[in-house]
Amino acid sequence: MRKKIIAGNWKMNKTPMEALELVEQIKDKCNVSECDVVFCVPFIDLIPVIEKVKDTNISVGAQNMYFEDNGAYTGEISPKMLKESGVKYVILGHSERRQYFCETDETVNKKVKKAIEYGLIPIICVGETLEQREKGVTVDFINVQVKSALYNVSKEDAENIVIAYEPIWAIGTGKTATNAQAQEVCAEIRKTLSSIYDNETADKMRIQYGGSVNEKNAKDLFAMGDIDGGLVGGASLKAEFIDIVKSI
Ligand code: 13P
Repeated sequence: MRKKIIAGNWKMNKTPMEALELVEQIKDKCNVSECDVVFCVPFIDLIPVIEKVKDTNISVGAQNMYFEDNGAYTGEISPKMLKESGVKYVILGHSERRQYFCETDETVNKKVKKAIEYGLIPIICVGETLEQREKGVTVDFINVQVKSALYNVSKEDAENIVIAYEPIWAIGTGKTATNAQAQEVCAEIRKTLSSIYDNETADKMRIQYGGSVNEKNAKDLFAMGDIDGGLVGGASLKAEFIDIVKSI
């Protein structure tokens, strides 16, 4: 049985002071054992937030990292820095990074391998545009994203990886995928994982849905057979995140 995982992706929101206020407000109610809860916060908030949740079951994640250990890469953050700071998860290949910061399937794959080398758990984001959905190429496109991200990743390493299916048209738009649409693609992703590895590995890997998840739609989405939780944007910045966690 896969343990569900609810992660908040704060994106570029919350100063360190604001981050501490929000965490203070929600941490006790998010300190559950039924599912894994992760706060993926801006780099500058990582250390204060890690300190703040240290006596809870809550984990902290970063939203990106670079694929080198260290060196002359001005403005970048290495997996080694994240690991030493107490970060457990790292979101990789979010569609906003692909769209605005030239992230490609190749760089995502490099980052996935580097994150694993440092014992960080990647949350790999995949998802189609509205145009791709309308053309009927959603599954083909996502298969390429999944296979590229996991290229040369062993099945032992893959078991812990989380895949987040986030249709781009559902992100920040209030247009959540229906339960059936989200389940269909997550099931296809699991089939792809079986084809890359085997059924046993695919059954262990967690697949989240993301895109306008809120306290009203979370319960039904997370009840679908291949949806193992959610990656939550806007609704993770408010106290309603507690209700999303409680929906498990
Ligand atoms: P919203 O929940 O705001 O649609 O964002 C989803 C997302 O991009 C999470 O990574």
